Amino acid sequence: MNTVRIFDTTLRDGEQTPGVSFTLQEKLMIAKQLERLGVDIIEAGFPIASKGSFDAVHLIAKEVRKPVICGLARTVDKDIKAAAEALKGAERARIHTFIATSDIHRDHKLKKTKEQVAQMARDAVKLARTFTDDVEFSPEDASRTDLDYMCAVVEEAVAAGATTINIPDTVGYAQPQEYEERIRYVQEKVPNIKGLAISTHCHDDLGLSVANSLAAVKAGATQVECTINGIGERAGNTSMEEVVMAIRMRGAYYSATTNINTRELFRTSQMVARFSGITPQRNKAIVGANAFAHQAGIHQHGVISNKRTYEIMDAEDVGWEGENLVIGKLSGKHAIKEALTEAGFELTEDQLLSVTEKVKDLGDKQKSIHRDDVVAIAIDVLSALSPKEDRIKLDELSVFTGNRVTPSSTVGVSIDGQRHIGSATGVGPVDAAAKALKSVIGPGFLLKEYNLKAITGGTDALANVAIKMEDEEHNVFTSEAVDEDVIMASVKAMIKGANKAYHFKTQQDLRQGERHERK
Ligand code: KIV
Ligand code: ZN
Repeated sequence: MNTVRIFDTTLRDGEQTPGVSFTLQEKLMIAKQLERLGVDIIEAGFPIASKGSFDAVHLIAKEVRKPVICGLARTVDKDIKAAAEALKGAERARIHTFIATSDIHRDHKLKKTKEQVAQMARDAVKLARTFTDDVEFSPEDASRTDLDYMCAVVEEAVAAGATTINIPDTVGYAQPQEYEERIRYVQEKVPNIKGLAISTHCHDDLGLSVANSLAAVKAGATQVECTINGIGERAGNTSMEEVVMAIRMRGAYYSATTNINTRELFRTSQMVARFSGITPQRNKAIVGANAFAHQAGIHQHGVISNKRTYEIMDAEDVGWEGENLVIGKLSGKHAIKEALTEAGFELTEDQLLSVTEKVKDLGDKQKSIHRDDVVAIAIDVLSALSPKEDRIKLDELSVFTGNRVTPSSTVGVSIDGQRHIGSATGVGPVDAAAKALKSVIGPGFLLKEYNLKAITGGTDALANVAIKMEDEEHNVFTSEAVDEDVIMASVKAMIKGANKAYHFKTQQDLRQGERHERK
């Protein structure tokens, strides 16, 4: 049995999903959960890309000790130096450097000759090796690159010191057999590749990323790059839970195993779904809501007499917990802390106290509280700004609605201690409240996205509202809020978003002020 290393890129390629942006705290929580899951390598970000990405890689490098922590870099000196700087403090650090090798990328994106690209690959790997002895090289768009040229570049990278060679199917174009042959070809034709790790990195444009990754494993790949729930650019990346469970269920076929604790898969999927705002489709393999549900009578009958008639694996093996009513109004801080720790959340004492108060409040209103409710409340608390940063505070909200009236709303807020009241009508009560709020916080804010979700079933379910708000300079702010009242949750989320925007503006003004002073 070969151990296939699992390289998770949820925080890097996964964060490239349109509309997804994790906060620093969310990234750290995901990284810690990936560590519990048993991931071998975490690609924590692309440090040169933004300060946020740099900070995340740096924090994760310091706080997450078991997996190798990896930072992405183009084959450019400043990228590699930024990655090395961000990775300082890591127990084991990897620099992953890449350059496109396909004709179409070279001619139209890079405008470089074959020789120039090969030279850049060699120089980058050499430089990266001065910072760490764990260097990964990727010829981007490998699956559309001339095979022999791809091998020549790989050979240069290995000669310069690369220890892992990744063969990306960047645009999800490859077919399983073709990709398998490419992986075999590199191993046969690159003379200095023996003993190095061969990696796969597949995108799902044709729905084949998992099939392609597994075909590569069959051909001898020893590392699979993937993301939780398959999130990523365009149609996404290889879904980790699917690849891992395929290897686990068909280990003999692949002569392979992984280090993943599969019982943590479901929990990790749920965390990433919450933070990314992307819930896997119901029929998604392994982690979708229907993955272990049986509808047809004939199937139910079979499963009752022998589970294996229609179930190839146990739901518990991937960490499914089912519905669990954990918390009541008499549950204390400890029960809540335990539920949150099990779900992968770490809170400070103050945050925990705040969650406990909210849970008790809900309990007093007769609501039955599920683990998911507690997690939603925790996310609400975690994403709250400090009282000092909260310039807008909600004082009052009223809505008037019905089947024969135009919905209307009045919102009262205090902004920096000054009271403001606004009223508006709308097509529905949420719309009316949003317009009333906008009339007091100013026309500069544009609501770009609004998503409402009931956390658990029932008419007493907690409402979770996630929004995206844009300011006049097109900066986008995401926020979410939970409440047992849909309209309250909506208004709270919008106020949170506006407070984030105000906070950002204040910070920006401060930075500009500092720059002027320095001049
Ligand atoms: O898809 C891709 O080619 C990548 C590289 C940076 C490995 O994400
Ligand atoms: Zn990618």
